[in-house]
Amino acid sequence: MDIGDILALCKRRGFIWPSYEIYGGVAGMYDYGPNGTAMKNDIIGSWRRLYLIGEGFVEIDSNTIGPEAVFKASGHLDEFSDAIVTCQGCEQSFRADHLVDGMHPNPDSLSLDELQAVLIENGVVCPDCNGKLSDVGEFNLMFKTVIGPGSGRVGYLRPETAQGIFVNYPNLLWFVRGRLPFGTIQVGKGYRNEISPRQGVIRLREFNMMEAELFIDPKDKTWPRFDDIADQKLSLVPQDGIERTVTVKEAVEEGIIANQALAYFVWLTRRFLVGVGVDPSRLRFRQHLSTEMAHYACDCWDAEVELAIGWTEIVGIADRGCWDLSSHADHSKTDMSFFRKFDEPVEMEVDRIRVNFKSLGPRFKGQAKSIATALEAGDPSDVIDGIITVTVDGVDHKVNSDCFEVIRVRDKVTGERFIPHIIEPSYGLDRIIYTCLEHAYCKDGEGYIALKLAPSVAPIKVGVFPLMGKDGLDDMAQDIDRSLRDLGIRTSYDDSGSIGRRYARMDEVGTPWCVTVDYDSLQDGTVTIRYRDTKEQTRIPSSDVPSRVSTMLREGLLTWADPLSINK
Ligand code: ATP
Ligand code: GLY
Repeated sequence: MDIGDILALCKRRGFIWPSYEIYGGVAGMYDYGPNGTAMKNDIIGSWRRLYLIGEGFVEIDSNTIGPEAVFKASGHLDEFSDAIVTCQGCEQSFRADHLVDGMHPNPDSLSLDELQAVLIENGVVCPDCNGKLSDVGEFNLMFKTVIGPGSGRVGYLRPETAQGIFVNYPNLLWFVRGRLPFGTIQVGKGYRNEISPRQGVIRLREFNMMEAELFIDPKDKTWPRFDDIADQKLSLVPQDGIERTVTVKEAVEEGIIANQALAYFVWLTRRFLVGVGVDPSRLRFRQHLSTEMAHYACDCWDAEVELAIGWTEIVGIADRGCWDLSSHADHSKTDMSFFRKFDEPVEMEVDRIRVNFKSLGPRFKGQAKSIATALEAGDPSDVIDGIITVTVDGVDHKVNSDCFEVIRVRDKVTGERFIPHIIEPSYGLDRIIYTCLEHAYCKDGEGYIALKLAPSVAPIKVGVFPLMGKDGLDDMAQDIDRSLRDLGIRTSYDDSGSIGRRYARMDEVGTPWCVTVDYDSLQDGTVTIRYRDTKEQTRIPSSDVPSRVSTMLREGLLTWADPLSINK
């Protein structure tokens, strides 16, 4: 089985279609058909349940286009690039790190010069036409646009949903009534102008993300529910490259994962992925090398899954430190700090600004008094190169060091101000959907295909069939179908073709249960329920079908409180 088999099934059965196919398609762009959309919505639903209900996070929905200033501050304008080479013959472009796959243990960690050296050492040429390649360059992955008519204002399509959460930090902090830690999630599109996307939905130019941003006190990265999952196992590949299976507790105590919060969300990610159908034996968490980390991250663990194309990242769980909030504070001149009140005022040595009225008075004249008040309330750490900027009545004033001095005094302090850190589990929804499909794909010796999807994400939960579409069998089957739909359960009513073919159609889209009404049903009120994975068939009263199916579905739903799935 390869990616082509899965994509062919996806096309045939309405999961995933190449976008704009009637116009020849566009590389790196795919649409979800009806079955894919149903599955996608169920996966999002499972994820939301874990974060919103399980962890008490809040959800927002922010813009997908942002002005340039946002991405200057976030670092994406300067740093968000891939290494590119272009064939001097056919003019195709490629990611340089992908061309040296297998020639270096971790091409992601190489600088442009190092990549260039590996390409030369191995005599790499254009994979399409054997032409000579250009030198390695940098290619920024953001899509640029113009906001408004004419020359307008430069904007970019967001490369991650996260920035929409960070720029709303002051609103969010207000919303959660000024407490830490708090978490926010967002589900939506991300856009990256990938250089050479060739692996179906694994590498898209427009893709679906589910991101969670946890705002946390840098001095307290513990997590309240850590003890509940401390004995759960994780398969980890830390920076030393040696894979090991340890408990979450051991991972933190032995310093493999830096803190409880990060470890908790690595575990929650595992629980989510396994819950929606990722094979746990083909799932591991690999820590980034420091040379491989994104520009904003100080630590990062990727959830990697084994696919036919090799081990592939599907989720990144990063500790972004204070990078984003500090940078947005600097660029937007907005206070992004958090004030932690001490239980009791504490006497300590602190820096304060003392005003030098002799210089300040003549310099600022009538405004000197209000500027002096603002200066005395100012934060000495805001002095940059001897200058501090204070705002009075909405106007900024730059004040030179001859007008003030920073002195150290002993004072009673009621609390301290700091920039919260951010821990970010970032889930690539398309890669998760693809993994669920590939891990569920089973083909026997005779070419019979069944998708053993987790019931909670299967696009159709129950196939309902009358043996014949007549003699009242159809009426009874339609009643069962309606009773399931009334409970919000997606069904497929099918009265065409042989029963074998109908089961086969359902197996191929991963439907876990089928219910068949036959002539005995009219006599004794029982129907056959068939289980996809075992092909076992049993008779149950038709009136039991809705409750039986609801119970089986509920058992598969991801809720934090369900001890069975915690132990999965
Ligand atoms: P890669 O190294 O494969 O390019 P990345 O490290 O750039 O991925 P992140 O920036 O960590 O990925 O993005 C978070 C998640 O978003 C990834 O784990 C992945 O599942 C998903 N993702 C990133 N880029 C793409 C893409 N081009 N197409 C589909 N999903 C993507
Ligand atoms: N938000 C994680 C990433 O896009 O890299």
